[in-house]
Amino acid sequence: DVIDVKDVLSNGYFTYDPGFMATSACESKITFIDGDKGILLHRGYPIDQLAEQSDYLETCYLLLNGELPNAEQKVAFEKLITNHTMVHEQLQFFYRGFRRDAHPMAVMCGVVGALSAFYHDSLDINNPEHRHIAAIRLIAKMPTMAAMSYKYSMGQPFMYPRNDLSYSENFLHMMFATPCEEYKVNPIIAKAMDRIFVLHADHEQNASTSTVRLTGSTGANPYACIAAGIAALWGPSHGGANEAVLKMLDEIGDVSNLDNFIARVKDKNDSTKLMGFGHRVYKNFDPRAKVMKQTCDEVLTALGINDPQLELAMKLEEIALNDEYFVKRKLYPNVDFYSGIILKAIGIPTSMFTVIFALGRTPGWIAHWLEMHSASYKIGRPRQLYTGSVQRDFVPVDKR
Ligand code: ACO
Repeated sequence: DVIDVKDVLSNGYFTYDPGFMATSACESKITFIDGDKGILLHRGYPIDQLAEQSDYLETCYLLLNGELPNAEQKVAFEKLITNHTMVHEQLQFFYRGFRRDAHPMAVMCGVVGALSAFYHDSLDINNPEHRHIAAIRLIAKMPTMAAMSYKYSMGQPFMYPRNDLSYSENFLHMMFATPCEEYKVNPIIAKAMDRIFVLHADHEQNASTSTVRLTGSTGANPYACIAAGIAALWGPSHGGANEAVLKMLDEIGDVSNLDNFIARVKDKNDSTKLMGFGHRVYKNFDPRAKVMKQTCDEVLTALGINDPQLELAMKLEEIALNDEYFVKRKLYPNVDFYSGIILKAIGIPTSMFTVIFALGRTPGWIAHWLEMHSASYKIGRPRQLYTGSVQRDFVPVDKR
C-alpha cells in the first residue's frame, strides 16, 4: 500500500523513517525487486536471463532506453561507446597528482568529478543532447579511467583503449597489457568480467543510486552526480563489501577459526559483521548471488584454480545458512560474497574490487539520472526530527 505524501502533509504531519526503510523517493520504470521472493528484473527482464543471454553493453542500452536493441541498434550503440573510450589527455595530470598508494576509489571520486572540467558540451542538464552525450561518455570512459587508476598505483604507463576489442576485453587489456607486452585476453575471463558488469548494472534505489538522484535533483552536472555516486558506493556497507569480504577471509585465515569468527559476529558487543551477507531489500537469496556463485564455480574450474580462500568461503556460507542467528534474520549471501573470489581468480587486486562495482553500476546511475530529468522532479530535501535544545538566549563568553 502506498500513502501519498500530500495527504500526510495536509494533516500537518511528516514521516520519520531513518534509513528510508519505508519511503519511496521516486517513481521508476527501470528495475523491479521483490526482496521476499528474490526477484530482480531490469525493464521487466529477469537478471538471470540477462546474465546468461545478454551482454553488458546490451544491458546498458536496455537500462538507458527501456527496450532491448535490435541487431542494427546494438551494433550502432557498441560503435558509439567505442568512439568515446579515450579520455582527454590532460586528465592524466589529475592521476599524477595523487600519491601512488592512494586507494583507487579515492582517485575515481576525483577524476570522474573532474570530467565536468573537460566536457563543457555536455553540462546543460536541460538539453537532451547534452544529457545523451554525457551518458555515452561516462559508460565509455569508466573502464579507461578505472584501469588508469590501477596502472598509476602500479607505477606502470597508462594503456590506451583498443577499439578492436569488446568492452570487457578492452578493460582487461588496459588493466594488464604493457607497452612491452600484449595481454592475451582469455575468453573465459572476458565472459566472467562481462557477467560481473551485467550483475552490477542496476539495483533501483540503493544508497549510491539514491545519492546520484539526490545530487541530480539540485541540477548538478552529470559527472558531479556520478562522482557523488562513486563516493557513496565506497562504504563497506555498500560497494566496499566485496573488498571487505576478502579482507574478512584473510582475517579468518583458516577453517579452524570459523567457529570463533561466527561467535564474534553473533556477539552484540562486537561490531564484527559477516561481510557479503545480508541486504536491506532481499530477505531471500540475492538472485545476483546465485548467478555469481555459478560463475565463480565455472571460472575456477576453467582456470584450474584451487583456492583455499574459496573453500573457506564455501564453508562459511554453509555454516551461516544453517545457523539459527542468520536464518532467523533472513541473512543470505549477497552479490558481493562471490564477486571478490572471481575477481581474485581473474587477477584483479583487492583494492580494485569496488572500482569494478562502480564501473558496472554506472549505467544504472545514469539511467536513473536520465529518468529523473525526463520528467518534472523536486529537489531532494528530507526533513528531520529535531531533538536538540529548545530556544535559549546567547550567553557572552565571560559569563559561560
Ligand atoms: N552479519 C551479521 N549480522 C547482520 C548482518 C551481517 N552481515 N547484516 C545484518 N545483520 C543483523 C543485524 O545485526 C540485525 O540484527 P538484530 O536484529 O539482532 O539487531 C539484523 O541482522 C538486521 O540487520 P539491519 O542492520 O537492520 O539490516 P539493514 O537492512 O539495515 O542492513 C546491510 C543491510 C547494510 C547490507 C547489512 O546486512 C550489512 O551490513 N551487511 C554486510 C555488508 C554487506 O555485505 N554489504 C553489501 C550489501 S549489498 C550491496 O551493496 C551490493
